[in-house]
Amino acid sequence: MKIRKAVIPVAGLGTRFLPATKTVPKELLPIIDIPSIQYVVQEAVDAGIQEIIFVTGRGKDGIEDHFDEAPELEQILADRGQSATVDMLRRIAEMTEVVSVRQKKPLGLGHAVLCARDLVGDEPFAVMLADDLIDAEIPGIRQLVEIFTETEESVVALMKVPREEVHQYGVIKGKLFHREEAAKFSLPTD
Ligand code: UTP
Repeated sequence: MKIRKAVIPVAGLGTRFLPATKTVPKELLPIIDIPSIQYVVQEAVDAGIQEIIFVTGRGKDGIEDHFDEAPELEQILADRGQSATVDMLRRIAEMTEVVSVRQKKPLGLGHAVLCARDLVGDEPFAVMLADDLIDAEIPGIRQLVEIFTETEESVVALMKVPREEVHQYGVIKGKLFHREEAAKFSLPTD
């Protein structure tokens, strides 16, 4: 079974980043000059994912626009002879197939994923968050896709947080990988 689709929920209010996120979606906040959502979509594409499903909400249209063609802007840039910039914009628009569904109220991450149910259909899929970039030698989603391909079981990436910060996060009680299982997938054991 191949993971062809990734659901990326982007309908949250982003209250922890206010006032930056009063009008700018958190997922479009840039790292230098690239919006964080672009890193996440690129990571999905590099892992073989062919369709991105955005779960969007009010004020989040800019996210879909970022992956759309921008003919007027491209024309102005072309007239100015800025062809490299036009090419860069085209590459972003052609990165992948993008579809979206609305989450009418920000009822939480779980509900956001559920909103994509009809677009996903009956097949395994990835869920990626655009506000937590993982800097890893083997990109995070590629690691998860590899584990799923091998085990055909649901798999989730976790982050360790100090005990005093646990109340700020969703937490799981789980068991750590055994050393030899972890080695098979290049995962840490601690
Ligand atoms: P977060 O809880 O980190 O995002 O959800 P948030 O709610 O926007 O931020 P805070 O807590 O108010 O600062 C992780 C991802 O899930 C999406 C967010 O857009 C974010 O990318 N999300 C969250 C939804 O799509 N819908 C929701 O109802 C909540």
